[in-house]
Amino acid sequence: MIRRDFLKSIGVLTAGAAIGLPAAGAELPGSLVLPDDGQAGSLNDLDLGLRSLRPQVSRQVTVIVIGAGSRGNVYAGFARQFPDEVKVVGVSDILEHRCRKMSDAHGVPPEHRFGDWSEVFKVPKFADAVVISTPDDLHYAPCMKALAMGYDVLLEKPVAQTEKECKAILAQAHKYDRIVAVCHVLRYAPYFIALRQLVRNGAIGQLVSVQHMEPIQYAHMAHSYVRGNWRDSRQTTPIILAKSCHDLDILRWIIDSPCKSIVADGSLHLFKPENAPDGAPLKCTDGCPHEQNCPYSAIDIYTRKKWHLNVFDLDGNRDPDFIMQRLLTPPYDSYARCVYHCDNDQPDHYVSEMVFEGGQTASFSMEAFAPAGGRRTRIMGTTGFIDGDGSQFTLWDFRTLKPQVWNRKVSEIPEYKGSGHGGGDHALARDFIEAVAAHDASKLSSTIDVSIESHVMGFAAERSRKSGKKEKV
Ligand SMILES: NC(=O)c1ccc[n+]([C@@H]2O[C@H](COP(=O)([O-])OP(=O)(O)OC[C@H]3O[C@@H](n4cnc5c(N)ncnc54)[C@H](O)[C@@H]3O)[C@@H](O)[C@H]2O)c1
Repeated sequence: MIRRDFLKSIGVLTAGAAIGLPAAGAELPGSLVLPDDGQAGSLNDLDLGLRSLRPQVSRQVTVIVIGAGSRGNVYAGFARQFPDEVKVVGVSDILEHRCRKMSDAHGVPPEHRFGDWSEVFKVPKFADAVVISTPDDLHYAPCMKALAMGYDVLLEKPVAQTEKECKAILAQAHKYDRIVAVCHVLRYAPYFIALRQLVRNGAIGQLVSVQHMEPIQYAHMAHSYVRGNWRDSRQTTPIILAKSCHDLDILRWIIDSPCKSIVADGSLHLFKPENAPDGAPLKCTDGCPHEQNCPYSAIDIYTRKKWHLNVFDLDGNRDPDFIMQRLLTPPYDSYARCVYHCDNDQPDHYVSEMVFEGGQTASFSMEAFAPAGGRRTRIMGTTGFIDGDGSQFTLWDFRTLKPQVWNRKVSEIPEYKGSGHGGGDHALARDFIEAVAAHDASKLSSTIDVSIESHVMGFAAERSRKSGKKEKV
């Protein structure tokens, strides 16, 4: 749709003139609060070009899942949903029960059930692609090996732990002419697709700047970045990549221009030993006198609120006593640790500012002290403004000042039923399967080249946070 037709379709222009201009002498708007008189317009009819999650392929694509944990199961789940189009033919996980469970579910023969990832590559190539959903420090080596053996790769983010390794993966993908899809799933979420479509079609004129915030819900922070798998930046990646590479990618994608420079700051403020309340033992389960009042209590988060239970291998048993038993038993007892007594170093607040080649600017904050997640985004353009909270957004056009809201629920979009991350998980999987079947990387929303670009932004941000200097990207 050309821009003028698009603007007409959202009611900003009529054939000859602007409509709905505020009346002469109307009161100056004082806030962004939506009118409660039902007068806000709707953008829900925007055609986002969404289509069925079923891959359009002329043959079945075969995949090996390396890392049968939570992300591996998301992609294996996709294969179960569309068995004619995609089949899991091999599984690798060092946890035998995880490997067995996924293998049994997909009828994987014994000779294609592996422990460590390296075993997969000791046998001749037997599938089209591998899914790499191992921990962050085990992306680089299996990806390099898979590409050299001629596999296409669905690679969980972050791509790798250093900029050098990221660039080596890019070079390897080109050298062997293979497809690498990085799981920047938010690009596939209808909310972000709608946001970007409006910007690209000129609904706010020229984009000038963006304010973006990623709140990490406080218990999610404690679970993943204080007690859990991503607590140590040296073993994984700095939190700006581990948590926020999605956000850098989305900024780059919406602004549609390479980032020139970035400056960042932030630190670990709370979760360290000097902040432990008097008498707090090393674990919440060791009779901590503060347990009842501490928002970060492991007993509260896991046994009462029952959040983040996927790490406890509960097989559906959500009984509080059973969960408590897990919290007392290695290796799960690492999640019982007091948040002030963990071996963590990830910042709990992180701010950054970026300048893009087109002159646009963006500020990005990752904040750990928030009651809920839900990315907040404000996009400032020459004729309009967009304000979003991760599930709905409002467009304000300066010519009409009539707010227009996009608030389609992913659960009500039939094509996206059951797909996590705002609908993005399975849409990404669909495009990957189609790209592999056709050997055509252009079927992906993001090539490996662009995915690496947003990682380079993250590494530059981390250098800046440590050096206190603005970094070129
Ligand atoms: N795209 C996203 O939005 C998103 C969301 C969450 C996590 N992730 C990323 O996905 C990756 C996996 O995260 P997860 O939450 O599924 O973790 P997880 O711990 O649930 O799964 C990882 C699995 O890898 C297995 N594993 C470990 N070492 C192995 C080895 N040597 N060989 C084979 N298997 C091995 C583990 O046993 C585990 O089952 C991480 O890199 C993470 O950062 C991405």
